[in-house]
Amino acid sequence: MGDTAITEKPHAVCIPIPAQGHINPMLNMAKILHFRGFHITFVNTEFNHKRLLKSRGSNSLDGLPSFRFETIPDGLPDSDVEAKRDPPSLCESTTKHCVAPFRTLLAKLNDTASSIVPPVTCIVSDGAMSFTLDAAAELGIPDVLFWTTSACGFMGYAQYRRLIEKGLASFKDACNLDTVINWIPGMKDIRVKDLPTFNRTMDPDDILLNFTMVECERSQKASALIFNTFDALEHQVLDALSSMFPPIYSIGPLQLLLNQIPDNDLKSIGSNLWKEESGCLEWLDKKEPNSVVYVNFGSLTVLTSDQLIEFAWGIANSNQTFLWIIRPDLVEGDSAIFSSEFLAEIEERGLLVSWCPQEQVLSHPSIGGFLTHSGWNSTIESVCGGVPIISWPFLHDQQTNCRYSCNEWGIGMEIEGGVKRGEIESAVRELMVGEKGKELKKKAVDWKKLAEEATSGPTGSSYVNLDKMINEVLRCAR
Ligand code: UDX
Repeated sequence: MGDTAITEKPHAVCIPIPAQGHINPMLNMAKILHFRGFHITFVNTEFNHKRLLKSRGSNSLDGLPSFRFETIPDGLPDSDVEAKRDPPSLCESTTKHCVAPFRTLLAKLNDTASSIVPPVTCIVSDGAMSFTLDAAAELGIPDVLFWTTSACGFMGYAQYRRLIEKGLASFKDACNLDTVINWIPGMKDIRVKDLPTFNRTMDPDDILLNFTMVECERSQKASALIFNTFDALEHQVLDALSSMFPPIYSIGPLQLLLNQIPDNDLKSIGSNLWKEESGCLEWLDKKEPNSVVYVNFGSLTVLTSDQLIEFAWGIANSNQTFLWIIRPDLVEGDSAIFSSEFLAEIEERGLLVSWCPQEQVLSHPSIGGFLTHSGWNSTIESVCGGVPIISWPFLHDQQTNCRYSCNEWGIGMEIEGGVKRGEIESAVRELMVGEKGKELKKKAVDWKKLAEEATSGPTGSSYVNLDKMINEVLRCAR
């Protein structure tokens, strides 16, 4: 559909929670909907919009006439200090302060006298931005909640009230994290420590624990829930969720659906909050297939200086070639400092950069393994690349993603407990050149093929689910 028909298009407002691991999949979703004929308004917070511009080195983020960016304040004091925007502060602030500016934005978009865009017909909101449900109800339009976790991670979130009732949260006395649970629908023999970490708090009033419980419960009011996963990967949990929540659509991996769209001006619009160093792709081009370990702990993980040193020597002593992403705020309280001895040791075979185009890196033929924190985006991007993993889960749903990667899907091995260089060294070596690594690689390639099948039209499960979700929910007035 060309931009001439702009005022007749259905109009989706897409709004992620303002964090990297949520903006990326929402932007992919928005681009796919645009290709399916929707006018898109993509809503960032003012703070993140400035960061996006800075990371791109530009003054404006131009979309297309039919794909526009808008901003609302996140409710926190305006400053350039990212540290003040930690997950609890952001969740508390967006819940309290975003609904009013969001309503004002919707009213502006719907003001036919001054607006040149079609009226808003639906909202696609992050699952953790459920205040949008109130705004959608007032307009009588559908609101689909996009939970950017795995389905199994979300199932873990949905169990918090029961876990607390059963004494399986850490209030007062630490609960036994090794307790095996068999009452969670769609999950077998899961240990408390495999569930998302928010219940590991001493404080029953903990902001993230309560926020997650409330947001999950409010999902009941959504028109539908979507997940960036595919049926073959998580069918038991997806089936179980289907009987607990409004219609569930598994429509991932979104990056594979997006890859099928012909090149257009939108494709180059990225969502990196940190400046990307794409030179690492040329470095990878010069390496042998499956020869490089990729190390990245996502956007939120913070290492102690000791952990950094243990990881560094473990990776170096494995004698493998590696690409390691050292985010500027990766290390607690300070920037990462490496000894000259370490830098000399790795000169020939290690590349350290601050941020990279990860989807492309994980799809690069030179990448043979991934040492990861098991964030959901990293996990699903690794599946798309057919890359096996070493998992060092840090927080949130990463524990659950790790458990499923290692025990259900057979694509990973876990580093448990403290970070010790000897253990890292042998895990990296095993992954890259050991027998276990070969098995994991084979499984990872099998899952990659299944992910490709799921996203292939016209019969792949995610392809079909996306069509259904668009036709049955987004294009339908309530
Ligand atoms: C957070 C939570 O930690 C995670 O558990 C939850 O599932 C989503 O939100 P985050 O730490 O940001 O995730 O990790 P992840 O989910 O893996 O998302 C990181 C995103 O940033 C990925 O899409 C990845 O491709 C991108 N990225 C990361 C880059 O593009 N370049 C980098 O150098 C690092």
